[in-house]
Amino acid sequence: MLCVGDLRAGYGRSRVLHGVDFGLRAGELVALLGRNGAGRSTTLKAIMGLVPAQGAVTWQGQALLGRKPFEIARAGVGYVPEGREVFPTLTVRQNLELGRKRGRVPQRWTMPRLFELFPQLAKRRDTAAGVLSGGEQQMLALARTLIGEPGLVLVDEPTEGLAPRLVEQVGQCLVELRRAGLAVLLVEQKLAIALEIADRCLLLGHGRIVFDGTPAQLRERPDLRREWLEV
Ligand SMILES: Nc1ncnc2c1ncn2[C@@H]1O[C@H](COP(=O)(O)OP(=O)(O)OP(=O)(O)O)[C@@H](O)[C@H]1O
Ligand SMILES: [Mg+2]
Repeated sequence: MLCVGDLRAGYGRSRVLHGVDFGLRAGELVALLGRNGAGRSTTLKAIMGLVPAQGAVTWQGQALLGRKPFEIARAGVGYVPEGREVFPTLTVRQNLELGRKRGRVPQRWTMPRLFELFPQLAKRRDTAAGVLSGGEQQMLALARTLIGEPGLVLVDEPTEGLAPRLVEQVGQCLVELRRAGLAVLLVEQKLAIALEIADRCLLLGHGRIVFDGTPAQLRERPDLRREWLEV
């Protein structure tokens, strides 16, 4: 279980998060939604130790705040940043090998298991990552995070810039991760996909969680969508 309590973070003097509270269980896919600049990426970075933050963040009872990103990764938290950073000149397989944690043998997410989850990557295992499509690069970024055997994955806008068919595919991959028992925290701009795949939606506004409920509950609240999502 991930517990985020009164999380506050910002950049220099500008405060972005003013006290974010939510929880996330294993086997749960939660979408973190909000307008551009609401602080969704900052929330993920604060959990991952990439921006200084105050408050409390615990994952499976271990306190994360104040620890270094590599220590947080070692505690079982995987992070897929915006912009699918893959190594373009390395092959798919080489990119995956880089995701492997030193001295740790993959248990769950072995190479064959990953290629089963992402059949498109299997076909292109010896292709340079730079020539993959945007959707394939996104899957590679996800797969590389899984090879580190996380229990929780933080995924920042994985469908950005993808064609609708690929949005759907990436969405289904995230559903598979949830089915495999991972906790997934998804930052998403597209409300439709979040409503389709998430167990719960969080709305971030004015640096706080202003709504925490099911997609069905959010569907019934056009007022909230107008206030916190639409531009
Ligand atoms: N490195 C940084 N230095 C200073 N300010 C930043 C930095 N990164 C983000 N910000 C500011 O913090 C606020 C929240 O940014 P954040 O990246 O968390 O937004 P977001 O909700 O992910 O939205 P989007 O991804 O659409 O930009 C924004 O006002 C942004 O300009
Ligand atoms: Mg962002």
